[in-house]
Amino acid sequence: MTVWVVLPTYNEAANLERMIAALLALELGVRVVIVDDDSPDGTGEIADRLAAARPEVRVIHRAGERGLGTAYLAGFRHALAAGATAVLTMDCDFSHDPAVVPNLAAALAGADLVIGSRYVPGGGIRNWPIHRRWLSRMANRFVRLLFHLPAADCTSGFRLYRRHLLEAIPWEHIRSSGYSFLVETLYWAARQPGTRIREVPICFTDRVRGKSKLGLREAVCGAGHLLRLRFSVRGRPGATEERPGGG
Ligand code: GDD
Ligand code: MN
Repeated sequence: MTVWVVLPTYNEAANLERMIAALLALELGVRVVIVDDDSPDGTGEIADRLAAARPEVRVIHRAGERGLGTAYLAGFRHALAAGATAVLTMDCDFSHDPAVVPNLAAALAGADLVIGSRYVPGGGIRNWPIHRRWLSRMANRFVRLLFHLPAADCTSGFRLYRRHLLEAIPWEHIRSSGYSFLVETLYWAARQPGTRIREVPICFTDRVRGKSKLGLREAVCGAGHLLRLRFSVRGRPGATEERPGGG
């Protein structure tokens, strides 16, 4: 199975080349789609150079648009159009260890969605400051309270999706352009009848190079999108009727 890796980047010049080398060194065959939002630090040029050197690497350059969620979406579209059967998302900063990708791929044998999870036994977080741990815990608690999703780590960006699941998600209903996109996606994934979701423990390690783009504004806007989603649908994951009317 070839895994297509969607790698969103914003100011990852210090990490991108090493990340691509680590992914291409995996025994598993991978293709990589870098989605760069016109990073001021030159990440886009590095991406072009890497893509020119290796046919497994492609780049989508977006100008005038920012957002982790819509970057994932652009990557999904590209990978699906190219025939991908399994699509992975991960951070470019080594918070998500590329060496774990084969474990996630193995777990997909019995699943439609595999989540690299910090909050199952064996999983954990290394080097995150206390406020980030707190934010992540609160976000997961908030999300489970709202939606009762069948996962312990609902905000992880380290995920592997089967093609048919990506094709089944009603993307036109997704409101979030940023980090909460991950929760909305999980919500719709869980609502597809028969979806098998598996979590594989990972140790999330805080980035050594570069800066996180998750700020207070993201967190507040994300919570707002999720509240609106919650109150626009009556059913819960697993229920088949009822979809929001968009907007
Ligand atoms: N193209 C694009 N556009 N990429 C972006 C943008 C954007 O607007 N914002 C962030 N990225 C890229 C980063 O360059 C990185 O590769 C990845 O998306 C994740 O962003 P980080 O800024 O590293 O996020 P984080 O480490 O603080 O957040 C982590 O925890 C979140 C909550 O648990 C990530 O693992 C997220 O995936 C997770 O949702
Ligand atoms: Mn990160």
